[in-house]
Amino acid sequence: MLNLFQDFPITSKLDSQAYGDNNSKITKEHLELNLGGITVEQAIQNKKLFILDHHDYLIPYLRRINATTTKAYATRTIFLLKDDGTLTPLAIELSKPHPQGDEHGPVTDVYVPAHEGPEAYIWLLAKAYVVVNDSCYHQLVSHWLNTHAVVEPFIIATNRHLSVVHPIYKLLFPHYRDTMNINSLARKALVNADGIIETTFLWGKYSLELSAVIYKDWVFPDQALPADLLKRGVAVKDDSSPHGVRLVIEDYPYASDGLEIWAAIKTWVTEYVSYYYKSDAVLKQDPELQAWWKELVEVGHGDLKDKSWWPKLQTREELIEASTTIIWTASALHAAVNFGQYPYGGYILNRPTLTRKFIPEKGSAEYDQLSKNPEKVFLSTITGKKETLIDLTVIEILSKHASDEVYLGQRDGGDNFTSDAEAVQAFKRFGKKLADIENTLAVKNTDATLKNRTGPAKLPYTLLYPSSKEGLTFRGIPNSISI
Ligand SMILES: [Fe+2]
Repeated sequence: MLNLFQDFPITSKLDSQAYGDNNSKITKEHLELNLGGITVEQAIQNKKLFILDHHDYLIPYLRRINATTTKAYATRTIFLLKDDGTLTPLAIELSKPHPQGDEHGPVTDVYVPAHEGPEAYIWLLAKAYVVVNDSCYHQLVSHWLNTHAVVEPFIIATNRHLSVVHPIYKLLFPHYRDTMNINSLARKALVNADGIIETTFLWGKYSLELSAVIYKDWVFPDQALPADLLKRGVAVKDDSSPHGVRLVIEDYPYASDGLEIWAAIKTWVTEYVSYYYKSDAVLKQDPELQAWWKELVEVGHGDLKDKSWWPKLQTREELIEASTTIIWTASALHAAVNFGQYPYGGYILNRPTLTRKFIPEKGSAEYDQLSKNPEKVFLSTITGKKETLIDLTVIEILSKHASDEVYLGQRDGGDNFTSDAEAVQAFKRFGKKLADIENTLAVKNTDATLKNRTGPAKLPYTLLYPSSKEGLTFRGIPNSISI
């Protein structure tokens, strides 16, 4: 996940007794090479630097991961936000475990952009190690943990405590469709021991363990899109902006489209909740609702039950924010991380899932080969043929919509979910708003000044278009996590 880069030099939070010195070796000189004459301090002050940090969480596992056929690095990558609104990498730090033990700290090298000679291929390889870490984090954390896994406790608590005629049951029920089923299938064939994910992704048999460790830092209120953007520093509070936040990277398609969808969900939930709960007192005295939330926090997400950030569900505002966050997670957040997997990751050279060799050292035979046959070195480093075939087959299936998919703004059974006309009208307004947003996003994708929407591959960002047809469409927000 991309974060604003604010503190230079980069320091590690790892225990130095156990893991040695993990502070970054990236210097000002590395970064200022391509800063166009400004200093690191000026770039930080102007919010021009961003970091993709795959270091601290990976170091404790890297020695064990590298003991198998895979060979990889912990990575830190610094990006510059250029004047044309696009990001470009300034430096990549690669760290591998010290041969004499973790307490010596990792062996670290820093690479900067190079455009010719063997250094250009070294730079290409350095980027591949970063992408591998990003592929794994995306699959096991952004996708599996942050959507599929965290929604399960909400589904169970809702079914155990809210009766089927309870208004909040009716609000949330469409967003749980098929999720327990697909998660069960995933545990049998995807994320199981020796399964497809363990076989084809770098983290191997540590895949679920790492995702479980990272869950300890999961914060429910930060799953709300505006909160997530603020926490990552990619947006700042701004009351004059339509959604209360202003993007630091203005042309950030996921964030800008996401804020539109988030606001539409929130408006619908606000109107619906306000109709059924005329005061906070009524909400506090709703025994089903209070039992639902108590079990969700204390049992469902029991490992995190003592965290002070849990909403207490004593006000309508808290219920609106929590419900909006659940719906957002099950619908738009999952769509954004799921249905682009094949379109963006289906070309393995662009999105490798593991690496099998370290970067060649200067003076070695492999380094010489890099000058003569760089493609061969690259291909023998990234995901092998067999694993690529398995990976691509799976992500192609995962990126497809089923023929009976139900999309945001629609319900199985149409308007028959309630006989309360106000609730039906609010839901219709929600559907209309989503259709309007889709039109707006389509226009944005024709704006050539928004360079990040289409990119050099000429693939416009359509993942948050609410509607879709069946199949591999690279668009469409289903109500629920169903694949
Ligand atoms: Fe999924």
